[in-house]
Amino acid sequence: NHITWDFQSAQKGGYRHFMLKEIFEQPTVITNCLAGRLDLKNRTVSLPELDALEIPEQIQIVACGTSYHAGLWGQHLLESWAQIPVRVEIASEFRYRNPIFKSEDMILAISQSGETADTLASMRLAKEHGVKVLGLCNVVGSSVAREADTTILTQAGPEISVASTKAMCSQLILLTLLALYWGRRKQTLPANVESSIITGLLDLPQILEAELPLLRSRAQELAPAYSTARSFFYLGRGMSFPLALEGALKLKEISYIHAEGYAAGEMKHGPIALIEPEFPTFALALNDALLPKTVSNLVEVQARNGKVIALCHSGFDLEVDHTWEIPNAQGPLSTFLALPALQLFAYEMAVYLGKDVDQPRNLAKSVTVE
Ligand code: G6P
Repeated sequence: NHITWDFQSAQKGGYRHFMLKEIFEQPTVITNCLAGRLDLKNRTVSLPELDALEIPEQIQIVACGTSYHAGLWGQHLLESWAQIPVRVEIASEFRYRNPIFKSEDMILAISQSGETADTLASMRLAKEHGVKVLGLCNVVGSSVAREADTTILTQAGPEISVASTKAMCSQLILLTLLALYWGRRKQTLPANVESSIITGLLDLPQILEAELPLLRSRAQELAPAYSTARSFFYLGRGMSFPLALEGALKLKEISYIHAEGYAAGEMKHGPIALIEPEFPTFALALNDALLPKTVSNLVEVQARNGKVIALCHSGFDLEVDHTWEIPNAQGPLSTFLALPALQLFAYEMAVYLGKDVDQPRNLAKSVTVE
């Protein structure tokens, strides 16, 4: 229908696809997620909806798809800054186990749509057992937002593209704020972490805004060189492991190229058998404590004639087929530059291969049935 088409293209604001528009909205999403959540005078996080709640003894994160990857990432910060033991589980697995519920624990349900059937069922199960549920959700008035005991809204704005992008960015920002908030309340945060991360977060939108067009050009350069690959590995360690999972998911979802996200250290336990020239590796080789280990994993891949793209920080001259440099950011905040690189790589691969980016086959934006 002609009118619908015109309306849609107006909604896309000059971008060819909603996915591209939403990737480019991430600087604004970060700004919106921080608005009202920071006490700028004292350089502290403010999450007043949590002030009256006890700090959980343990957190069980339940989520699906991209939101599950956000949870895996958040686990690192919640454990290291707030010293709260965190488990993360795919909601469709959690709901059919017999999980052990303790009243001092908390369920953290992460969902963009707030309507994912398995995530909702997991929440309901926990509530039946008297466990508090915190919802991290993007849609006001959604089932997760209504049924959770407390809800934190992620402020990503409407996400139209089936492949989730900006919603994950918003979830990661809120998880960062949560870890800082509970870390301060528990007095487990190392000195100055809260104020320096807040400074870093406030600088992010401007840095990302300038970087996005460069990330896109690099993705456009690399896509033709890798478009004949039938399979891809995405490797990462530590906080980059959930990003590897997400990079692989994005590529699968919209380009239909088989991709597996793997913990780099686990490669030697089987997957390395698959490496050959037509099975390239996208490595997350960011500058963190685990970089030397990731680099030695890449040497193993190259020794088997596997091609390697390495996403790394400027100044690290890795000897791989293609490096992809991103600017330095403070610790975990590098994620907010790495994530759009992964999203744009999948996007440009799909565009190059002529796929329907916004409406990938067999996928739904929100899975409200089992
Ligand atoms: C579907 C979507 C994914 C999303 C997942 C979880 O599979 O296609 O993009 O990550 O559901 O959705 P939720 O709304 O719960 O975050």
